[in-house]
Amino acid sequence: MNTLQYIEENKDRFLSELMDLLRIPSVSADSKYSADVFRTAEFVKDSLVAAGADNAELCETAGYPIVYADKIIDPSLPTVLVYGHYDVQPPDPLDLWHSPPFEPVIKDGKIYARGACDDKGQMYMHVKAFEIMMKQGTLPCNVKFMIEGEEEVGSNNLGIFVAANKAKLKSDVILISDTSILSNDNPSLTVGLRGLAYLEVEVTGPNRDLHSGTFGGVVRNPINTLCQMIASMHDENGKVSIPGFYDNVEILSTEERTEMGRAPYSEAEVMEDLHVAALHGEKGYSALERKSIRPTLDVNGMWGGYIGEGAKTVLPSKAFAKISMRLVPNQTSEEITAKFKAHFEAIAPAGVTVEVRPHHGGEPAVTPTDSIAYQAAVNAFEEAWGKKPIPMREGGSIPIVALFEKELGLKSVLMGFGLDTDAIHSPNEHYGIFNYLKGIETIPLFYKHYAVLSK
Ligand code: BES
Ligand code: MN
Ligand code: MN
Repeated sequence: MNTLQYIEENKDRFLSELMDLLRIPSVSADSKYSADVFRTAEFVKDSLVAAGADNAELCETAGYPIVYADKIIDPSLPTVLVYGHYDVQPPDPLDLWHSPPFEPVIKDGKIYARGACDDKGQMYMHVKAFEIMMKQGTLPCNVKFMIEGEEEVGSNNLGIFVAANKAKLKSDVILISDTSILSNDNPSLTVGLRGLAYLEVEVTGPNRDLHSGTFGGVVRNPINTLCQMIASMHDENGKVSIPGFYDNVEILSTEERTEMGRAPYSEAEVMEDLHVAALHGEKGYSALERKSIRPTLDVNGMWGGYIGEGAKTVLPSKAFAKISMRLVPNQTSEEITAKFKAHFEAIAPAGVTVEVRPHHGGEPAVTPTDSIAYQAAVNAFEEAWGKKPIPMREGGSIPIVALFEKELGLKSVLMGFGLDTDAIHSPNEHYGIFNYLKGIETIPLFYKHYAVLSK
C-alpha cells in the first residue's frame, strides 16, 4: 500500500483522532484550563507512541510539559527534529463562534475548532505522516519530536529546555508546520518570520474614578490621553514615529522586492475576505511587503473606565492598552522595547503618569533557500502538489525559530499548510480537510527527498 492509498483508507480515523485532540481546551494563556493543557500533552505523547515512536516522555518545565519522542533507525543517518505546539489561543469572543470552539465540527470541507489549524491540526499531520512511514517501513532517516505547550504565551520554558538538552535534541534540521501557504493553487514555503515585542501600558490620571461632570474639564482624562499618545505613534504615511524605530531595519534590494511582487497575493481577495473597502499601512509598500518585510505597531486591546451595560458617567483614573510590534531582520525585541518605553515616557503629558510593562518578545528569522533541507521541501511540494512552491516571508512569529539557530546552530524548514483565511486566533478558526490530508501526504516526501539529498 502506498502513502496515498494508506491516507485514503485511514482518512476518517485521521480526522476523528484530530477532532478528539481538538476537544481538549489547551489554552495556555488562561490558568483555568491548566488541567486540560496537561491532558493534551498526554494525548500527544500517547499518539506518538501509538504511531511507533520510542522514548516518549513528558519533559517537565516550570510551566507546561514538552512532549519528546523519537525513532532512531540508524545513528549514521540524518535526523529531523519536528517542532510543533499543542497549546492554543483563548477562544474569546465566544459569542462570535458559529459552533462551540472545543466541539469540532466539519462543515464545507473544513474542521472548525480552536487550534484546528494553529497548531493542533498542523502538528498532528506530522504524527500521522510518521505513522504512515512506520507502517510502510519507509522512514528513511531518524526523527525526534519536540511538541511544546507554551508557544502562544512566548515559549519561555522551551528556550530553557533547548539550552539544557542540546545533546538530546541533536539533529540536522528542524521541520515545522505552523505557517501558511499562499493558496491551495499556489503552494508556498515560508522563508522568513517576523519578530515580536509585546507590552502593556498603563496611564494614570487622578487617584480615583471621578464624576465626569464635576471633574470633566478639570483634569486630564487618561483614556483620552492614551488615545492621543497611541494615535501619535504613526505619521501621515503610516510610518511608526518612535525615534530610531527603523534604524536597523533590513532594506531589501529592488530585485528582491520585484521577485516578491511576483507572488500571486491578491489584495482584492483580502479585502473581500475581510469586508473592508481599503487596505491600509505604510506608504510605498505593497500589502504583502507591509506584512512581511516591514515592521509594524498595533494596539491589541485597550480598556479603562466603564465598559458594562448602559451608561455610567465616569472620568476614569486609569487607561490600559496591550501593544504589539512586529519586527524584521536586524531589529531586536530588546532594542525596540527600549525605544518604545523611552518614547512613551517622553510623550506623556503633565497630568498623567505612565508605566510600560514588557510582556514577551521574539526575534525575527529568515531561513536559507540554498540548503539541502529547503530543496527537499521544494521537491516534496513539487511531487505532492505538482507545483513549485513560492518562497514567501510571513508576518507571524515563531520565536523559537531564532532560538533554535542560536542554541542548536540549526536552521528550520517552515513547511506550513494553513491559509491566511483559516481565522487562526479568531472566532471560527478552521482547517481545510484538503490541507490536512495534503500535508500528511507531503511530509513523508520531505523525509524521502531529504534522505536522498543528504547522501
Ligand atoms: N503559528 C503562529 C505563527 C504564524 C502564523 C506564523 C501565521 C506565520 C503565519 C504562532 O502560533 C503564533 O501565533 N505566534 C505568535 C507569537 C507568540 C510569541 C505569541 C504570534 O505570531 O502572534
Ligand atoms: Mn502556531
Ligand atoms: Mn498562534
